[in-house]
Amino acid sequence: MRSDRLLALRQRVVAAFDQAFGDTPTAVVAAPGRVNLIGEHTDYNEGFVLPAAIDRHVLLACRPRHDRQVRLYAADFSAASAFSLDDIRPDEAQRWSNYERGVTLMLQQAGHQIGGADAAITGDVPIGAGLSSSAAVEVATAYVFQQLYALPLSRVELAVLCQKAENEFVGMRCGIMDQYISALGQRDHALLIDCRSLEYELVPIPGDVAIIVCDTKVQRGLVDSEYNARRRECEAGARLLGVPALRDIDPETFARRAHELPEVTRRRCRHVVHEYQRVLDSVAALRAGDLAAFGALMYDSHVSLRDDYEVSCRQLDVMVEAARRVKGVYGARMTGAGFGGCTVNLVDAGQAETFRRQVAAEYTRLTGLSPSIYVCAAEDGARRVL
Ligand code: GLA
Repeated sequence: MRSDRLLALRQRVVAAFDQAFGDTPTAVVAAPGRVNLIGEHTDYNEGFVLPAAIDRHVLLACRPRHDRQVRLYAADFSAASAFSLDDIRPDEAQRWSNYERGVTLMLQQAGHQIGGADAAITGDVPIGAGLSSSAAVEVATAYVFQQLYALPLSRVELAVLCQKAENEFVGMRCGIMDQYISALGQRDHALLIDCRSLEYELVPIPGDVAIIVCDTKVQRGLVDSEYNARRRECEAGARLLGVPALRDIDPETFARRAHELPEVTRRRCRHVVHEYQRVLDSVAALRAGDLAAFGALMYDSHVSLRDDYEVSCRQLDVMVEAARRVKGVYGARMTGAGFGGCTVNLVDAGQAETFRRQVAAEYTRLTGLSPSIYVCAAEDGARRVL
């Protein structure tokens, strides 16, 4: 079933390319969105995260050009945007194109020789839902230029360059997690990523559990400004504790030194130092086949994000509580930056349908909103599909 979705998207993007440029593309690439199982707001503190790439993708169909023009067509918005590689500035009217613009700028700043391209874009990663549609666009763009111009670029370098585009061109100071997993994800696995060394370990996802994403349908508000504010608070905490990053403080040291920090900074830091320990503990639990222990850590993570980091919202809390009451649920938590978006749930595979029905009914009863609920498969990172 998962390849059917991709096949349909491939047809759609090839048709969009033909409609926009009157030709067939020379390559089509797909880059996945992601769900983070645990390890939230730890990446920019140089800690650990445990995301999986999911079977929702952004596709770019492309063809090289002989000049320095890049022409983009976003099929899902019926919108076009074009620019020259010699004069890359943000497009205020077609803001979706700033991800592609930023990536082409960073590729050139890193010394890569690229020429122009025509590209059509489509996808089925929900936009603004916290499943990293923007990272998928960035990674797909970088991968398209790598394919068209045979760029010598490792997957990790590609991810770092995409993160730089988002930090410096788009203005969101995100960590490395989303771009990394979209570039390096592996089918049926989560990746334990060390966001300091940029190395990873593969963690198999057991066949008898389903990873279910519940979209609250609350579009994430304030995410850029609040996100950047959290990042500054963590940096202030690390400075006051005299360490390069919060990664360098373990929970015991933190307990001894927490009184040195002002109240809000203390709560932000408490979340981070415990969260990265939870990631390591949850990987040990998963490897030992202890899903109950893994799930308990997911609930703890949610409470910490809600009370100490203050990035949850009522609808996310309601969705987690609704899940907790369903039989066969090991754990649930908000996933991604927060302020709306999705929860991630670890559920006994045999209970997935009951989960979907009960959680949807309960969430609608309490919020008046109808959620989208998907069972996700862990997918490979960016790849050519034509
Ligand atoms: C967003 C950012 C990531 C990460 C998460 C929170 O998805 O892009 O880098 O910080 O929020 O864990």
